[in-house]
Formats: sequence, structure tokens, C-alpha cells
Amino acid sequence: MASQFKRTLVTAALPYANGPVHIGHLAGCYLPADIYVRYLRSIGHDVKFICGSDEHGVPITIKAKKENTTPQAVVDKYHKIMGDAFNEFGISFDIYSRTSSKVHSQTASDFFKKLYDKNSFTEQITEQYFDESAQQFLADRYIVGTCPKCANPNAYGDQCEKCGSSLNATDLIDPKSTLSGSKPVLKKTKNWFLPLDKLQPKIKDYLEKHKDWKTNVYGQCKSWLDSGDGLQPRAMTRDLDWGVPVPVEGAEGKVLYVWFDAPIGYISATKELLPETWESYWKSEESRLIHFIGKDNIVFHCIIFPAMLMEHGEFILADNVPANEFLNLEGDKISTSRNWAVWLHEYLLEFKDKQDVLRYSLCANAPEAKDNDFTWKDFQTKNNSELADILGNFINRVVVLTNKNYNGIVPEVSEYTKTDLLVLDEIAKTPGKISAALEKFKFREALSEMMNLARVGNKYLAEQEPWKVIKTDEKRVRTIMNVALQISANLAIVCEPFIPFTSKRLFSMLNMPQLKWNSSKNTNNIAAGHKISADNIILFAKIDDDEIAKQLEKLQKSKEANIIEKQVEPVKTETTFDDFSKMDIRVATITAAEAVPKTDKLLKLTLDTGIDTRTVVSGIAAYYKPENIIGQKVIMLANLAPRKIKGIESQGMILMAENVKGELSFVSPTKNQIENGAGVK
Ligand code: MF3
Ligand code: ZN
Repeated sequence: MASQFKRTLVTAALPYANGPVHIGHLAGCYLPADIYVRYLRSIGHDVKFICGSDEHGVPITIKAKKENTTPQAVVDKYHKIMGDAFNEFGISFDIYSRTSSKVHSQTASDFFKKLYDKNSFTEQITEQYFDESAQQFLADRYIVGTCPKCANPNAYGDQCEKCGSSLNATDLIDPKSTLSGSKPVLKKTKNWFLPLDKLQPKIKDYLEKHKDWKTNVYGQCKSWLDSGDGLQPRAMTRDLDWGVPVPVEGAEGKVLYVWFDAPIGYISATKELLPETWESYWKSEESRLIHFIGKDNIVFHCIIFPAMLMEHGEFILADNVPANEFLNLEGDKISTSRNWAVWLHEYLLEFKDKQDVLRYSLCANAPEAKDNDFTWKDFQTKNNSELADILGNFINRVVVLTNKNYNGIVPEVSEYTKTDLLVLDEIAKTPGKISAALEKFKFREALSEMMNLARVGNKYLAEQEPWKVIKTDEKRVRTIMNVALQISANLAIVCEPFIPFTSKRLFSMLNMPQLKWNSSKNTNNIAAGHKISADNIILFAKIDDDEIAKQLEKLQKSKEANIIEKQVEPVKTETTFDDFSKMDIRVATITAAEAVPKTDKLLKLTLDTGIDTRTVVSGIAAYYKPENIIGQKVIMLANLAPRKIKGIESQGMILMAENVKGELSFVSPTKNQIENGAGVK
């Protein structure tokens, strides 16, 4: 597949620079992209791997507001954190750029200008939502409401993350400003729209040529095209102050829509990486463009960006968009705001040098065709029962036996048995199986083919028992060890895309230079007489239950913190001191109490208020027994208009504290000298 093309440009979604990277990011997009790129590099294909931070848009300005700082400070901080995390996990971008770069604003600006000059946009004055208290237009994530397509109550102004639909803010039912919580008003403003409705036939043609895309991707696109009124015009500019300024007259105070500027980031980052030759990747039919993304980005990469590129006319369109679904964590949606995530930088503090364990377990569990769950228990199993027991154990046996019996020198083959030949055949076939799976973006299948080779090795040693045979037939052991060493060398090659740190250690244990994919079909990569390293390294230490329990506890704490947070009601709208002083709140004592007949909630209380004696009916029977509350000091609202409850006139109200479960408690002065009738102010 790859060979039809001279070169491949692989992009991974530019993540918003508004928070650190978590396992969901890695599993959904960056890890599969990296595996794919490493594989292409290994087969000697010309490939470039492009990524960078998405530094514009409302996600950034919202974060700045939350952290009480500037958008620039937010992107500077997270650009570094994210870049470092990717690097530490071996995500081998050729460039990790950022959309606040000069090259980028120039490229995005020129792109817009070209479409503008070609009259690709329609200029429209429309009514857009405006927050009067914040004095600001609301777009994208500044506005939430109910999705008109799937009724998700938390859809954003430009997209519903539940059903994936792209929306216009004015489509939302019951819109609310995320700045003030208030209901926005409509206000007229001018923006430039990409008429996706008119472009629909061209987009349809494009998609029809790509029925080979993953079913989750092709299916989503198809349903947008076929749904109701089809594609709608979409504003490519915004009334915001953070972003690339709209480069035309009469657009002061407006910026490019972040989903217009960000994908152009792929182009500008390529330019930055290859100032001389970038065009050969973007403007030649011999080049192939592949976008790795998460499922919430499908509409932007399969419809909107291709539409932009078609209008522009000079660029190739994506040949494939292998989007993954979402990864959940311990049965719950990963969430930054609820701190329900495994953060890459935190993982490394506790699992030092175990990048490959995470890479392996995320790839084995990748949400390729449907949402999938990451659990710590499974992570432990993947490490202990697969990486350590199969791959690690096999390598360890080979190295130990070679060092012990042959001083680390690869022994010579005397004669192959039938079993040996079968095993050699397995070795030779494995790379082809892995390639076939990778070229179809089936990363789980590819990974398990890789692991199968280690299984073959393990089984071979277990059956041949060189540690026993050495006592009777030393010559036979030489052949066994030679075969086992060939398996090891080939494992080092084929595991590289998935677990590159391990591959490197394997090559160094075998004392070999790093070999490429082509060699993996050979069954004689490590020659007799070659000396391997004497170091006896444990590739994968077991992870014990305590370490897993610690991670689960950490998550439990996040959950508890969230519950506490949820229990506190948000503050009510502002009031005035004048309004407050209209209430006559004072201390009183309960002098008599009895249940109100035929109710189970109500008590009839007699109160000494210091100025008079009153009857108050109160809904506290579930929490207090009448006989236990005689003499209890309480706080009451004394000037509440009297009303009849169950035929009894209630002359005021007792103030109670109430938690979210509706449980009630008296509030009461804590000092005795505060007597009945004392005012509460
Ligand atoms: N920042 C977006 C997100 O995190 C992805 C942008 S991809 C690009 O969902 F194409 F716009 F670059
Ligand atoms: Zn929806």
C-alpha cells in the first residue's frame, strides 16, 4: 500500500495547549501514529511525522480565565509540558511546532486571503450570540446548550462531542453562556462563511473514493452528508480577540475560526521542518497524506479541512483518516476537569523507565473500533503475564544460557531438525503479518502478531529444554541456542514500532547495531561467533499489587474530591444588603413540640421568641423526635407572612442547614448569653 506512493506525510491532531497529556490522548491518536511512522521508517519509506500545539481558540482563553492569566502564558506553559511528555514516551515527531508561530500565522493568513480573493466565502451579517454582562460575542466553547440532533445537554456552540455533529451556536436549544451562565442575546455581526452546502457534491465525490476508510470514520461522514438538509454553511471567522487576525478590510477585532487555522498548522509545521522541500509532501500526487485523530475530530478532518483544501486548489487531500474512538478509564469517561485521568508526567514519576509498558498496554487495548476501557488491573496483567512472562522471560533465558554455556558467543548450527525449520519459517513469516495489519491500521492485531513471535520462542525453549539437553547432547544445544538467538534478533526488529525503548535495549544486549525491517525476514541476522553483551538485564520487572492499589487509591481520591465539589451548590445571584436587612431573623427556643397528625414530615413547634410565643410548623420530623428538641435554641425568620399548613397557622420559619441529600440540621448560637429574641444580622 505504502509503496504506491513515493512519500507519506503523517499528521497527528494538534492538541490544544490547555492541559497536560493523558493516556486518552496517547491511545487515541499519538501512539498509533507513532507506531505507523516508526514502521514506515523501518521499511525505508520516506515519511515525515508532523504535530504541534493548537494554541488558538476558546479552549485556550477559557483556561487562561480559569488560571487567572493570559492566553499567551497558558500556551507557553502547556506547549512545553506537552512536548516534553510526547518526547519522553518516544512519540517520534519530526517536528512539534505551535500555531502561535510566525510561519503559521502567515500561512493561515495567506490561505484565508487566497480563498477570499477567489470569492470562496460568502460574507454574511448574521445574528450571533452575545453575552451582555461579559460584553463579548459567544462562539464555540463559550456557549453550551442542548444538541438539536441527539439531545445531549452539554453540546458546544460548534460541536456536540456526544454525537460528533458539527453545529452552529444558533442551532443549540436553550443556549447558555459559559462565561456568566446567563442566557445570551442575539446581536448582528459580519462573518465569512464557507458554503459547505454548495461544496457538498465535491465532498461527496471525495468520500466516495474512500470507502476503504475505517467503518467508524466513513460511517460518520456518510451520515452527515445524508442527514436531513445535508451540510450547512459554516463561519470561518469569529468575533474574538485571540487568534490569527482576519486579513481583510472591515474585519477589525475578528480572528480566524480555530478550526480554520489549526489544520493549516500541519502545512506550516511542514514548511518549518522542510523550508526547501515541503511542497513535495503537500503538492504532489506521489505523496500520501494521513491524519491520525480522535473521533471528535472526524468532521473537521474529513469534511471541513478537505473542503478548504479543495477551494484552495494547490494541495493534496488526505488519503486516509484512521480515527480512533475514545479510551475510558476504570469504566468512566476520562475528564480533565474531574481529574479522572492518568497523566503522562505523573505516570513517569511512579513507573520510571516503563514507557513501553504503557505503550504496550494502550496499544493492546486501543479503542480502534469502539470505545474501550483502561484499567490498572489489566495494565498489571499486560506487564506481568505478557511482557515479563513471555517476552522478558524468553530473552532472559536466551541471554543467560548463551552466557553460561558459550561465554556469550553465538554457537554454530550443526543440523536443523524439523521443529527448527518450522520455527525458522514462523520467524520469516511474522514481519509480513505485522506489516499487513499495520497497513490496514489494525494496531492491536499487529501487536499481537509481534508478541506471537515471543510466544513461539518461549514454547521452543520450553520444548527443547536446552538446560537439560546440555548434559547429554551439547552439539544439539548449539543449534537450539542459535535458533533462539535468531528469534531474539528478529524480535528486536519487529518490536521497535511498538516498544522502541525495549527494542533499543534488546539490540544492545545482543551487542548489535539496530537492524531495519527488511532484515526481519532473514533468519540469520546474528552470526555464529558473534559475542553478545554479558549484561543480564531484566527487561520487565513485575508490577506488584501494592503499586496498582496505589494508583486505584489515587483515582478514588479524585472521585471523592468530585463528590465533595458537587455537593456544594453554586452561589446564588447577587443580592443587596437592603434586601437582606428586610428579613427579621432572630434566636428562639423550642418550648413544646408534637407531631402533626396524618403527616410523617411535619412537627408543630411552640417557640419562645423573646418578644412573644409562636406556633411554627416545620418539616423536620424525619430528623428530630419531638421529645428530644425541647429547649433547643434555633434561628427563625420572624417576619415571614403567616400561612396555614394542615389547618395550623404557621407564624414564621425555622432556618435549617440542608445538604444535597436533603438532610436537615438546626443552626444555633454557640454561646449561652445569646438569648431569645437576639437578632441575626
Ligand atoms: N486541538 C484540537 C483538539 O484537541 C485538534 C486540532 S487538529 C487540527 O481536539 F487539525 F486542527 F490541527
Ligand atoms: Zn449531539
